[in-house]
Amino acid sequence: MIAQASVKDSYRPPYGVTNSPETILRFPFPFPEDSYMYSMNVEPHVRGGPVVAMQNTFDIDEHYVAECTEKARILAEDPRRCIVMPHMREAEWDFVELAMETLSEQYPDYFALMRDGANWHWTNRLLGLEQAFVFGDAETLPHPPFEYMARQMQGDFTLHDQREDDLWMDGGMVTAQADWSLKFDLGMSFRQWHAPVPKAAELGVFDRGLRFLLMLQHGKPVRRLNWTMTINPRLDTSPENYLVWGADRASVTPDNALDKVHLRVELQTLYRLPRSHAILFSIRCYLLPLRDIVRVPKWGRRLHRVLGALDPALSSYKGLDLYRPTVVSVLSRYDDGAELTPGI
Ligand code: HEM
Repeated sequence: MIAQASVKDSYRPPYGVTNSPETILRFPFPFPEDSYMYSMNVEPHVRGGPVVAMQNTFDIDEHYVAECTEKARILAEDPRRCIVMPHMREAEWDFVELAMETLSEQYPDYFALMRDGANWHWTNRLLGLEQAFVFGDAETLPHPPFEYMARQMQGDFTLHDQREDDLWMDGGMVTAQADWSLKFDLGMSFRQWHAPVPKAAELGVFDRGLRFLLMLQHGKPVRRLNWTMTINPRLDTSPENYLVWGADRASVTPDNALDKVHLRVELQTLYRLPRSHAILFSIRCYLLPLRDIVRVPKWGRRLHRVLGALDPALSSYKGLDLYRPTVVSVLSRYDDGAELTPGI
């Protein structure tokens, strides 16, 4: 399933990312209806279901090696994309355990974990890593425990301490974010880091979301989808690098839109960690160019309708204003007006 050739993918100029037909079909298309508004779209993260990308605890796909390589480059350029506050040490080990256990159980061809008491041996065949270490002893790993594991996983991760009936962003590794910054949000509460989002607070989404997460139980993870759009297959659309990618939004034309404009979907999963009682938030990013989206006719039609009717406040917050009219006009060629049944 994991094509080693994808290590050639490039998430920065000169861009070059290709998606196999299998990868296109496992894309977590986020629109069950012809219109979109923020909602409390949280459901149990159970294995199975219609979207292949949701079938494992942490999803690994053909871009695994290329994404881990890009993550390592970003961390080398800016080591503070990974920060964990000292009181989150126990949560770091909780994360290592959850990741190693689930990856080795669900992808035995790629990962293996052997345990003898606290003496663990981890094998990552995709990245060519072998590591013997003592669980709970950070000195026995080449990086701090959270960083060691997060470097070997696609997507971003944040760690949240729960106290005073709130969640606090007290750690994370964030290298592929949709224009927000861990450095800026570090130490903030749930409502504070969500403050830039329009409409959702008035709709009660954050009050309900926080109440729900405060009661999240170990062993019962949940998931939700979020989406935006990105020009070029660029993972790192961070505020830190805005000067590098921001101007790309002005480069979209009717001729290049299908290749340049990507639907960016985040499969977000949340886990209660057993010893620390912290919450792990995982953001797994999928980028698919419009050219691949329209290969699935119902997706092309639906995206055209969602973008055409998008609330101006959401369009502006997501940074789509400069190119949304062009994209809607291009996608209109793929929408014959046929009625679509609810669901993806
Ligand atoms: C946006 C983090 C849970 C709904 C965001 C942003 C961050 C974030 C960093 C970007 C804010 C910015 O513009 O600076 C998190 C974390 C969560 C979490 C760490 C869990 C610990 C939730 C939940 C919901 C939610 C449970 C809803 C039930 C939203 C919405 C947006 C958002 C609607 C706007 C997204 C967009 O339009 O692109 N979140 N979030 N979040 N979050 Fe969360």
